[in-house]
Amino acid sequence: MIDKLKELIAEAEAFSAQTKEEVETFRIKYLGKKGLLNDYFAEFKNVANEQKREFGQTINQLKKTAEEKVQALRDELESKEEVKGIYGDLSRPGEPIEIGARHPISIVKNQIIDIFSRIGFNVSEGPEIEDDWHNFTALNLPEYHPARDMQDTFFIQTDPDILLRTHTSSVQVRYMENNQPPIRTISPGRVYRNEAISARSHCFFHQVEGLYIDKDVSFADLKQTLQYFTTEMFGKSEIRLRPSYFPFTEPSAEVDVYWGLKTETDYRITKGTGWLEIMGCGMVDPNVLENCGIDSKEYSGFAFGMGIDRIAMLLHQIGDIRLLSENDVRFLEQFKSAL
Ligand code: DAH
Repeated sequence: MIDKLKELIAEAEAFSAQTKEEVETFRIKYLGKKGLLNDYFAEFKNVANEQKREFGQTINQLKKTAEEKVQALRDELESKEEVKGIYGDLSRPGEPIEIGARHPISIVKNQIIDIFSRIGFNVSEGPEIEDDWHNFTALNLPEYHPARDMQDTFFIQTDPDILLRTHTSSVQVRYMENNQPPIRTISPGRVYRNEAISARSHCFFHQVEGLYIDKDVSFADLKQTLQYFTTEMFGKSEIRLRPSYFPFTEPSAEVDVYWGLKTETDYRITKGTGWLEIMGCGMVDPNVLENCGIDSKEYSGFAFGMGIDRIAMLLHQIGDIRLLSENDVRFLEQFKSAL
């Protein structure tokens, strides 16, 4: 019987538990009213006299071992719980933190803002729901002017005077109405046109408008500013200006940057010419200055406008403009490493 008791002591010493319930089961098994210890104590009277002393000592040792074990396990589990309470379960594997990505439109827009802010341009914004004056008339596009057809417009049905702006040039009108020269501002924003949606065009997209008005501003200033921009933006300084027409500028030009013909993609996007059209520009028409309350005899200036979506597609090799507004995280996540 003493050997059995010694086995039980060893067992009790080796016992470990993960939960309070396991500790309680252990306690009942050894120390409970109907537990092992009470059974053995009951046996005491049947033990031979010469063994009583050793039996008594062993049974007391078992009792002590069991009691100490219960106390130790309870303390251990309680301290674990305390840690859990404050810090959660420290042994749980970590959860990776999902970091968001900027939208490619924002990335390119911020780059453009950064480049122009370095040469003193500020940022201005205007409403997307515009009136006829700011979007057309003040920009030398009076009602029934054929050039209005250049931009298919979404009008508000109940009020033909209100429309979704077709270009950010409307912001230059607002800016000139509220500020006197010298003016150096760029206006990024979303614009809308009633166009069929395809891989290359959408009914909404983004533009940046630039405006510089001061005394003696010349076409040479415009060209140098554009050259600075293309060098900073694309790392390419070779540009050419092709004569064009915009109602709000005179003379007007289309700006091409020499992209090169190194890769197959270069051939495709430049249609084999190496040149890529990136924006429209010109000297602000004196009529526009006068419409906005600026004396055209004292001041002159240039303006330009470009599409952010097209530049984003170009720089990030995005083949379909619709990807930019579909909110597909598989697409958006790819811009995590960009600015
Ligand atoms: N507003 C023109 C467009 O949407 C772009 C543009 C061309 C803006 C020439 C300008 C400019 O300021 O001078 O197509």
